[in-house]
Amino acid sequence: MANILVTGGAGFIGSHTCVELLNAGHDIVVVDNFSNSKPEALKRIKAITGKDFKFYELDILELDKMDKVFKENSIDAVIHFAGLKAVGESVEKPVEYYHNNITGTLMLIKAMRQNGCKRIVFSSSATVYGVDNPVPYVETMPTHTSTNPYGYTKVMIEQILTDVCASDPEWSVSLLRYFNPIGAHKSGLLGEDPNGIPNNLFPYIAQVAVGKREFLGVFGNDYDTPDGTGVRDYIHVMDLANGHLCAVDYVLEHKGVEAVNLGTGKGSSVFDVLHAFEKACGRELPYRILPRRAGDIAWCYANTDKAKEVFGWTAKYGLDEMAEDGWNFTKNNPDGL
Ligand code: NAD
Ligand code: UD1
Repeated sequence: MANILVTGGAGFIGSHTCVELLNAGHDIVVVDNFSNSKPEALKRIKAITGKDFKFYELDILELDKMDKVFKENSIDAVIHFAGLKAVGESVEKPVEYYHNNITGTLMLIKAMRQNGCKRIVFSSSATVYGVDNPVPYVETMPTHTSTNPYGYTKVMIEQILTDVCASDPEWSVSLLRYFNPIGAHKSGLLGEDPNGIPNNLFPYIAQVAVGKREFLGVFGNDYDTPDGTGVRDYIHVMDLANGHLCAVDYVLEHKGVEAVNLGTGKGSSVFDVLHAFEKACGRELPYRILPRRAGDIAWCYANTDKAKEVFGWTAKYGLDEMAEDGWNFTKNNPDGL
C-alpha cells in the first residue's frame, strides 16, 4: 500500500477518489485551497470510510508550502486534480486559468523533484481531442488544438509532463483523459456541488429536479445525431475514481508516460440523460430548446481499448445508475454540501 498525495482532493472527482483510495488501504495526504470546494467534503470522506487522513489547506502555487508537505510526509505518488475547470470562465479570465493550472502544475513538479517523488497521475480531459478528430477518440490522435484556454491548459500540461519524462527516465506519468463524469457516491453523502449556475448538463438537470431552476435549456436539437442533441460519453464518478486506483498501481510499477481515456465508450444524447434523470426522480422535467452553445461539438465518446489493456479497467455503471445516484445526492443535499 502506498502514501498518495491528492491535490484538489476536496473537489468533485478528488473526493470520490479519496474514498476509493482509503477503502483500498492506501494512505492519503490531501491538499486543497477550497477555491471550488468546501471542508464538508473532507468530513464526508471520513464519515464514509471511517478513516482519517492528513489535510493541508494551501494553494499549490505556493512552492514553499508544497515542499513542506513532501518533507513532512513520505509521498510515493501524486494524483493531481487541483485546477480551475469552467470553460466559459476560462475565456473571460485566461491569465488566471493559465496561472492557476499551468504554473500550479509547474510548482507541484518542482516540489516533487526537490523531494525525489517522480510518479504522477494527472487529470486531463477529452477536450484535448479538439474539434477535428473523428469519434471514437483514440489516445494516438493528435491533441494540439483546443477551443478555449481551459482546454489549452490540459494540452500544455500533458506536453510539460511528457517533456519531464523525456528529460528523466525515472519519472512515471499517467495522463487520464476523462470523458463526462456524473453521478455521485451511493451513500448520498458525496456528489457534485457546483458554485452558482451550473455550466454542465447533469448538475443543471439536478437543479431543475430539485426546483432550483425552472427548466433545462437544451443547447441545439439540429445536430447530426439520432435525436439532434449533442452526444457525450457520460461516466459514473465512482467508475472514474476506480480508474485512478488502477492508474496509481500502474505508475508505482512502471516508468514513462501513458495517456489513457477514461470513458464508457458509449454515447448518450441530452435527451437520454434527461430521461434517465426523470426515471430516477419519478417525474417529467421541463425543458426548452435553445440555440447551440458556442464551442460545442455534436459527438464525443471514447475508444476504451487502452484502459482495458494497460489498466485492466472498464466502466461498470450505466446511465440509469448515474442518474439514480446523482438524484439520491441532490435530494439529500438540495443546497449542496
Ligand atoms: P473541482 O473544481 O470540483 O475540484 C478541483 C479542486 O481543486 C477544488 O477542490 C479546488 O478547490 C481545488 N483547487 C483548484 N485550484 C487549486 C490550487 N491552486 N491549489 C489548491 N487547490 C486548488 O473539479 P473536478 O470536477 O473534481 O475536476 C478535477 C480535475 O479533473 C480538474 O483538473 C478538472 O479540470 C479535471 N476534469 C474534470 C472534468 C469534469 O467534468 N468534472 C472533466 C475532465 C477533466
Ligand atoms: C464541458 C466542456 C469540457 C469539459 C467538460 C467537463 C464545453 C464546450 N466543454 O464538456 O471542456 O471538460 O464540460 O467540465 O464547455 N447541454 C445542454 N444544456 C445545458 C448544459 C449542457 O443542452 O444546460 C448539452 C451540451 O450542449 C452538450 C451536453 O449537454 O451537448 C453536455 O454538456 P456539458 O455537461 O457542458 O459537457 P461538455 O460540453 O461535453
